[in-house]
Amino acid sequence: MSQHKTPTAILISGRGSNMMSLVEASRAPGYPAEIVTVISNRPDAPGIAWAKAQGIATVIIDHKAYATREAFEAELDEALVASKAEIVALAGFMRLMTPDFVGRWQSRMINIHPSLLPSFKGLHTHERALETGVRIAGCTVHYVRPEMDTGPIIAQAAVPVFSGDSPGSLGARVLAAEHRLYPAALRLVALGRARVEGEKVSIFEDVNDSSSLFSPKV
Ligand code: GAR
Repeated sequence: MSQHKTPTAILISGRGSNMMSLVEASRAPGYPAEIVTVISNRPDAPGIAWAKAQGIATVIIDHKAYATREAFEAELDEALVASKAEIVALAGFMRLMTPDFVGRWQSRMINIHPSLLPSFKGLHTHERALETGVRIAGCTVHYVRPEMDTGPIIAQAAVPVFSGDSPGSLGARVLAAEHRLYPAALRLVALGRARVEGEKVSIFEDVNDSSSLFSPKV
């Protein structure tokens, strides 16, 4: 008997490299989520062509074609319901969502952000990390709440910041971590092992590793 895989939708706005890492992870026989649709709010998002070429059902819902955020979200919700998705994974989806929409997908919608939240919410995270002078940067997967880049944290990955780093070199290091972190976090969510309890996530799996990241190395 084939194992049950939780139907999952991915929302993108651009390149889609995180979407690709989720799709690739989902192909492993034991992976507990299946990508049933990739939806983009931008018709020209490079990721949508890739998803289509992989034989995944794709939908374009151009936000510019809707007079209001609510009208756009009604269409999005319809596409998600039609896909039978039980989890929604935002992967570089650059639209703010109304509290209503977020509420409909409460604790079933997750996002990846390229910083160690709650530091550096919003855009230009790597520029700001370098300006601030932090020695450790990283990325976060969290459940979505109405306020941008907030919500119960599921998983984080830390990477060192080097003295000669540019936003590009730091961003590439963080992105490589994102590509490992997001499939691992979606796996926990799909298995029901990342549960929101009092606006914090409890992890029901033995995934602790007590080794520390030192930056600079000691
Ligand atoms: C990723 O770095 C993702 O963390 C970030 O956009 C990039 C999308 O790249 N998301 C945000 O900043 C959300 N606040 P991708 O399209 O190649 O996955």
